[in-house]
Amino acid sequence: MLGELFFPVIETTRLRLKPLAIEDSACLLEIFSDPEVMRYWNTPPWVAMKEAYDFVNESKELMLRQESLVLGIYLKSTGKLVGKCMLFSYAKESKRAEIGFGLGRPYWGKGYINEAGEALIQYGFRSLGLRRIEAEIDPDNHASAKALVKLGLQQEGLLRQRWQINGVVSDSALYGRLVSDPI
Ligand SMILES: CC(C)(COP(=O)(O)OP(=O)(O)OC[C@H]1O[C@@H](n2cnc3c(N)ncnc32)[C@H](O)[C@@H]1OP(=O)(O)O)[C@@H](O)C(=O)NCCC(=O)NCCS
Repeated sequence: MLGELFFPVIETTRLRLKPLAIEDSACLLEIFSDPEVMRYWNTPPWVAMKEAYDFVNESKELMLRQESLVLGIYLKSTGKLVGKCMLFSYAKESKRAEIGFGLGRPYWGKGYINEAGEALIQYGFRSLGLRRIEAEIDPDNHASAKALVKLGLQQEGLLRQRWQINGVVSDSALYGRLVSDPI
């Protein structure tokens, strides 16, 4: 019964969030091979189908182990996969998880992350019993910062020079939302 908690189908007005299937791999590769989508990620853009297959398979493993919830974001109107969202680094005892998103470029700025994110946050609080949901982003990622604030997360800190990727050093901004925060 508990296993189903990590394989939900969550419906919003325009979107369906559900576990990724291996058939989604080509579409995932199209989204996550885009350097603009991956600009603030800590891994390079994908280049091969294997990365998509591995991502789908690893996501399933993480969910079976109840360590992460990785869901595809599908348009209800067409069934098209437009991105993914996740609750990861789940710390069961502390009732905390990290939230993350990635959306294909044609789908930015349409309020999809606002819609998917709130549904995922409510699932985390109500169904997984989380007390705290947090996010770590590059402070230069203004779109992500704005999306997080709109989702009710507040900036709690700035970790200086936390990352070095391909010789480029960057800070991390930390955001958090508590189940007890007023909406
Ligand atoms: C960051 C990202 C998730 C935002 O998703 P989105 O669906 O475009 O965001 P929404 O449409 O729900 O918008 C949420 C808010 O952010 C703002 N926003 C979105 N894109 C923006 C941009 N490029 N610059 C500034 N603000 C932006 C929106 O205007 C909106 O605020 P508003 O309603 O006050 O106008 C999406 O752009 C993305 O996937 N980017 C690439 C991957 C990434 O950087 N992920 C974040 C790592 S966690």
